[in-house]
Amino acid sequence: MADATQPWTWRHDDGTASNDWSTFSRKLAWIAGYLGLALDSLGEVGGEPLLRLQTPGDRPGLPRLLVASGFHGEEPAGPWGILAWLDTRPREALAAVALTILPVVNVAGFRAGRRLNADGDNPNRGYLPGHEPLSAEGCLLLHHADALAAAGRDGFLACHEDVDAAEAYIYGLERSEQPGEFSRALARANAAWFPLQPDGLLYDCPIRDGIIFNHPDTSFEAWMMSRGAARAACVETPGQQPFMRRIAAQRAMIEAFTGFVVPAPG
Ligand code: NI
Repeated sequence: MADATQPWTWRHDDGTASNDWSTFSRKLAWIAGYLGLALDSLGEVGGEPLLRLQTPGDRPGLPRLLVASGFHGEEPAGPWGILAWLDTRPREALAAVALTILPVVNVAGFRAGRRLNADGDNPNRGYLPGHEPLSAEGCLLLHHADALAAAGRDGFLACHEDVDAAEAYIYGLERSEQPGEFSRALARANAAWFPLQPDGLLYDCPIRDGIIFNHPDTSFEAWMMSRGAARAACVETPGQQPFMRRIAAQRAMIEAFTGFVVPAPG
């Protein structure tokens, strides 16, 4: 991992900076209104809102899916990929699922283009017992633990990036010994835009076909699995590749995730 305090920013084709929070939040509010999504906040960290988008109503019987991004501030293609997916006006997809989206968990990091939060903590660690601290953002998420566990009962997707990487990969978490179609569909969607990491070891984790499978850590995705989520993934676009392609890949993976609608029994 590169220096976690280094700021990283990129530009969209229209010149908008990747860390332009006011443009991002304005576009998000507009598209939420256009699509009839409820937009609120789980609370604030350091005066910044942790925003939540939801399909309206209880929607009993529909798959309950949770998408979260912006845990790490130097990984902006996830949040912008969520916006790009919503901007394709996916009304059919939105009608078929009970969807909750947390577009930017670490707003201070997003604004600064820095990995960690304002306290220097990692907002994707400390959710499970271990020696890693839980960030202020993590405390706020766990304050809503029951609601978030229910929101992602049938699947959780975390949209991340790897600034050091030129090749794509995903972390897949499934209740099986080998990666199933869920992980494979996400890896394929990433591979449509970038070469995949070669088989072998990545950060000391075995990787095959672009998938690090059932890796144990104290991340939010691991916590979601501990709380009963049917499946989860943390997808990683390569930060060494062009920004607009990374956004397109994130959009494609959100589409693959929401299209993987297999309701959990019961
Ligand atoms: Ni990350």
